[in-house]
Amino acid sequence: MPSPKGPPELKHLDHILVSQLAIKRRIAELGAQLNHDYAKKDLMVVAIVNGALIFTADLLRQMRSPLRLDCLRASSYHSGTRAVGEPRIVDQMKLDVKDQHVLLVDDILDTGKTLAAVAGLIKSKGAASVKTCVLLDKKARRAVPFEADYVGFEIPNEFVVGYGLDFNERYRNLPCIGVLKPKYYAA
Ligand code: IMP
Ligand code: MG
Repeated sequence: MPSPKGPPELKHLDHILVSQLAIKRRIAELGAQLNHDYAKKDLMVVAIVNGALIFTADLLRQMRSPLRLDCLRASSYHSGTRAVGEPRIVDQMKLDVKDQHVLLVDDILDTGKTLAAVAGLIKSKGAASVKTCVLLDKKARRAVPFEADYVGFEIPNEFVVGYGLDFNERYRNLPCIGVLKPKYYAA
């Protein structure tokens, strides 16, 4: 039975950066913008899982067109809260992106390496257009020149969890975005 107080991990947070309500409102705005921008285009959404899973699920339910959805899995070797090395695509998409208008969705734009690599790959496969949508943008950490076309929230340079984002694969199910108490990063 779910606890009436919400997910138990909420008490693991030191502070909340983006509340559940703020996420909901911003996703409604992003959905309206995307409905407008893609009104006359056949859209293919590509979610970079696992991180983009929850954001994509909520965003797509704001969208009106009979779009198609595919997922790919990108991975960098993670050491604690830092990605080490170049991102690799470890699970390819099933749909053909040739001549398609592709919207890439990810949880967070951090160094920019993942989205730069995946956007480059999809362009090289002949997509008609490639745009990117991220829930969070941590501008201070950018290592390659890359900006997203649609951004939910700019956040400061802190490692965050929740709403799809993980620390060691945990906390993705938190309904908000927050910073863990230091003792949980140390665990
Ligand atoms: P990149 O550094 O922009 O390539 O982002 C790589 C991936 O690192 C993102 O898709 C996230 O999965 C992960 N990541 C970056 N910053 C955070 C964070 O603050 N919390 C959780 N995951 C993060
Ligand atoms: Mg990710």
